[in-house]
This record gives sequence, structure tokens and C-alpha cells, in this order.
Amino acid sequence: MKKNTRATELSRLLSSLPCPQGLLCMQAGEAIDIVAATAMWVSYDPVIIAVYLKPGSTAHKLLNEGRNFTFNTGDESQNEATLKAGSIKGTVADKMQQLKLTLEPSESIASPRVVGSAASYECRVLKVAACGDHDLFLGLVTGWTVRDGAKPVVRYGSQSHAVGAALKGPKVGYPH
Ligand SMILES: Cc1cc2nc3c(=O)[nH]c(=O)nc-3n(C[C@H](O)[C@H](O)[C@H](O)COP(=O)(O)O)c2cc1C
Repeated sequence: MKKNTRATELSRLLSSLPCPQGLLCMQAGEAIDIVAATAMWVSYDPVIIAVYLKPGSTAHKLLNEGRNFTFNTGDESQNEATLKAGSIKGTVADKMQQLKLTLEPSESIASPRVVGSAASYECRVLKVAACGDHDLFLGLVTGWTVRDGAKPVVRYGSQSHAVGAALKGPKVGYPH
């Protein structure tokens, strides 16, 4: 298959899997970065979530150094800032000022939470695994906040989406 055809096919496939979109924040010493990322949970109790980062990025480097991060589920009101965080390299000196996000201290780790997020997960890195062209970071959730009335954003079809109406059927809560 030609390179361009494969890229188009892969884009179609990958963008067909809806993922929570958020702001990943990591601090190592004085150094800090915030990037757009997608995430998923992998364990209910204890709560463990997975994030996946490209080796070579500032975020990847800081996460390896600091071994802790917050995943802040994006709220609709943060969408512009989230996409900006995904387009400015961590090496740009005034990246944090450009994002105009407000940070607050976490309760259990050094990396701060992003104010206004739908939810924030404070995580300590449990394991790192090389996975294809990304590295998988498993984060043990050591603290969290969930905001009432938040409007979480989902990544689908190469775009950010609002969560739609619930479909008919019984409510099945976690853990199941
Ligand atoms: C919506 C969106 C989701 C993204 N998700 C990821 C992701 O899951 N993993 C990743 O390595 N980069 C992801 N990126 C790219 C990063 O946000 C960021 O651009 C990259 O880490 C380079 O920034 P850095 O140099 O500050 O680390 C995403 C970008 C966007 C716009």
C-alpha cells in the first residue's frame, strides 16, 4: 500500500474510536508542560488510567523525570486552550502564558491540576511500556476531583465533540 493511502486509511480507523480528550499536565522540579492528550482507565480499584505519549516530546521527557501527572478531562469551555496545548511545543518559552490556563496545586502529587476541567486525576506513574510509536504510561490515581455540571469533551472523527444524549437502556454503573 502506498504511504499516503495507508496514512488516510489509518486516520479513518483511528478517528473512529471515540476517546476522552483532556489536558495532561506534568511537572519535574521547576519544569512544567501541559499538552492535549487522550486517556482511558484500565483498572477500577485501585483506579489506574493510561496515557500514551510520543517519545521525543517535552511531555514524554518530563513524565519520565517526574513520574507523576494530572489528566484533566477537558470541559467544553476549555476546548480552544486544549487544542492550543496540542499545537505548541513544550520548548516554546512562553507556552504556559499563551495557554492562559489557571493551575491549582494537587493534593497528592507535584504536578498541578487545571482549574475548570470536568475532572482531574492525580497520578503516580506505575509502569511505562513501549507500545509501537508511543510509550504507554500507567498512572495510579492518588487523588481526584469531579466537577458537577461539567461538559466533558470527546475526540472523534479528528474533531472535538460534545457528549450527546443518553440512549435507551438500563443504567450500568462502574465497577461492573
Ligand atoms: C486533541 C489532541 C490530542 C492529542 N493527544 C496526544 C496523545 O494522546 N499523545 C501524544 O503523545 N500527543 C498527543 N497530542 C499532541 C500533544 O498534545 C503535543 O502536541 C505533543 O506532546 C508535543 O508537545 P510537547 O513538546 O509540549 O510535549 C494531541 C494533540 C491534540 C491536538
